[in-house]
Amino acid sequence: MVSRLALRPLNVDEGVQASSNTAPSASGIPAQDAAGALSIHGLSKTYRIENRQIPVLADINLSIRAGHFVCIVGPSGCGKSTLLRLIAGLDKEYSGGIFLDGKRIASPSLDRGIVFQDHRLFPWLRLQENIALALLNHDYSKAEKNRRVSDYIRLVKLAGFEKAYPHQLSGGMAQRAAIARALVNEPKVLLLDEPLGALDALTRVYLQKELQRIWLERRGTMIMVTHDVDEALFLGDEIIIMDAHPGRIKHIVDIPLPHPRDRASSVLQGIRLEILEELISIPPEPDRIK
Ligand SMILES: Nc1ncnc2c1ncn2[C@@H]1O[C@H](COP(=O)(O)OP(=O)(O)OP(=O)(O)O)[C@@H](O)[C@H]1O
Ligand SMILES: [Mg+2]
Repeated sequence: MVSRLALRPLNVDEGVQASSNTAPSASGIPAQDAAGALSIHGLSKTYRIENRQIPVLADINLSIRAGHFVCIVGPSGCGKSTLLRLIAGLDKEYSGGIFLDGKRIASPSLDRGIVFQDHRLFPWLRLQENIALALLNHDYSKAEKNRRVSDYIRLVKLAGFEKAYPHQLSGGMAQRAAIARALVNEPKVLLLDEPLGALDALTRVYLQKELQRIWLERRGTMIMVTHDVDEALFLGDEIIIMDAHPGRIKHIVDIPLPHPRDRASSVLQGIRLEILEELISIPPEPDRIK
């Protein structure tokens, strides 16, 4: 039984462990091949506001195994979204290195998908058109594009709503559409920046289960930022706890339980209390600003 935080040292040379689930899933979408290992070496990032240099991330070293579900928690402003943007390749101004399957990340690519807190669907496009747009740069035939769009609409359980516009979807449905749009390219890594943060509690719990189902069906690496420790405990193989000013990794907690998980498990509850204590020990924003 685990009653203490299973903290592990940061080890950038940790071997890649491939996902063992490569069989086709129930939805017909094949599980990801053994790929999607991410390693981050000495990553630092500074923003400039007028003539001030503001260090946001400092010396991040991290190794994420292919097929793992990793959650990131930490105080507001500690650089979680910045870290995801750097992994996505949306921002190239940093020092250090970010590698996906050993290849340096230099720009956005179809091997990384990202989902934000808001769905960012185009309001003038129907659901199926929003998702198809993500396939613009592929030279698949029209039939193949249609097949992929339908497969992913089915995966997120939106079949029947293909022709709906975003305003005709509920918040949870729109977020599921955003997940389908990010997955339709079959990225090796899915980056999720508080994807359920704006939803009501019930929808949130429902979509946590949906995210878990999608991950179990297709595997692939998932990196999710969340403020909800219970969400992280339900989904994460590992939970990265970040500290702030500058943003850095405080601890990594391994969650040694199989999926799907029992939220009431005493093991999870023990880890939960320790993570909350870790987070509470980080001084609140006003104390940190000089
Ligand atoms: N484009 C930018 N220019 C200047 N500073 C920025 C920029 N984007 C973010 N920052 C600063 O970087 C820091 C980290 O921001 P970031 O959005 O990564 O935090 P976060 O951990 O995701 O916070 P939250 O939990 O509130 O979403 C903040 O202090 C923010 O003011
Ligand atoms: Mg953020």
